[in-house]
Amino acid sequence: MKILVFLVLLGLHSAAAGIHSLKNILTMSSQVPNSPEFVIVGMVDDVQIYHYDSNTRRLEPKQDWANRVTEDDPQFWERKTARCLDTQHLFKGYIKNLKHRFNQTGGVHIFQWMIGCEWDDETGEVNGFRQVGYDGEDFLSWDVKTNTWIAPKQQAVIIKNNWNNDEAKLAYYKNVLTQELPDFLKKFVNYGRSSLMRTELPSVSLLQKTPSSPVSCFATGFYPDRAEIFWRKDGEELHENVELGEILPNHDGSFQMNVDLNLSSVTPEDWRRYECVFHLSGVKDDIITKLDKTAIQTNWGKTGDGRDGGFPLGAVIGVVVVLLLLVVGITGFFLWKNKKKGKDGFQPANTSDASSSSPSSSSVGVQNTT
Ligand SMILES: *[C@@H]1O[C@H](CO)[C@@H](O)[C@H](O)[C@H]1NC(C)=O
Ligand SMILES: *[C@@H]1O[C@H](CO)[C@@H](O)[C@H](O)[C@H]1NC(C)=O
Repeated sequence: MKILVFLVLLGLHSAAAGIHSLKNILTMSSQVPNSPEFVIVGMVDDVQIYHYDSNTRRLEPKQDWANRVTEDDPQFWERKTARCLDTQHLFKGYIKNLKHRFNQTGGVHIFQWMIGCEWDDETGEVNGFRQVGYDGEDFLSWDVKTNTWIAPKQQAVIIKNNWNNDEAKLAYYKNVLTQELPDFLKKFVNYGRSSLMRTELPSVSLLQKTPSSPVSCFATGFYPDRAEIFWRKDGEELHENVELGEILPNHDGSFQMNVDLNLSSVTPEDWRRYECVFHLSGVKDDIITKLDKTAIQTNWGKTGDGRDGGFPLGAVIGVVVVLLLLVVGITGFFLWKNKKKGKDGFQPANTSDASSSSPSSSSVGVQNTT
């Protein structure tokens, strides 16, 4: 579960208006049942654009528009596939070394790299990022300002020192992160512009688990993930007795979010003064849902059995949340994998050079130190 949380958090600093992102997530795991040991996922603006895993051993586009890269570069996927394979071997060595370092003889372990960049298409500003995780926790992080690695864990200190002493590799990756990856991102944003810039409005419903539970205003199916949802009373945004949920991805690429309102101290006559407002970035008209008892979806009382009041809906919501977490986790997993590749933008530094010794700092560091 730690892994899932980690990835969820990573996903959150996605887009603000005008900001595009490229993330490659590379994941090497050991002893995870029914899962390829190595996966790379690449995402542009949090939409998965390519995927590689150690079962298929092929890097493949996940969006039709991502395949437009072959118009300029017909061998793109084949070339990148070769890099993915190199990276896979490299990462296999890394996880072995890490297990050794942590005195781990078996069990489930996961080593991840994330590498990518952000680009603000209004100011032109670009920022590269990379991060290494082991078993769901930060293992090494890279400070963009000083171009050095930081080790939050004691076991990473030797690796960090090795990597920070490798001036050539640091310089190389600096170029990858500030030039190659942003160029790659710009190219793919251009290919996917009409899809990435689309807006889709959600369906909004009011849900209540039990007669005394808060009323949840639930919006699902919107795109992109830049949205706000809040409760209003007499036209004024409410901040008390309100609980705002996170924006979560649906399996179809759209998003959902909710905001709960605790009505325990509100008299029935006052209900009509409340409404839920959903606002999607870039869309002028908000979706406004009046608080109306008859519009609330509940499950209690349907069977006429008061004992079960609210339970079924609660259970359904619970299952949905768990599924969402899984989806998020899986998506994140893939993302991480992809990062590694990114040498050309596509392969964030580690992959590309990893095989040749260059920056794949992680690899070098890990190998050197063991
Ligand atoms: C691994 O084992 C060695 C020797 O038993 C010990 O000194 C070291 O602290 C252990 N490392 C970890 C991470 O537990
Ligand atoms: C709703 O608010 C009341 C008091 O105003 C509080 O006692 C109750 O615990 C709250 N319910 C939830 C689910 O937060």
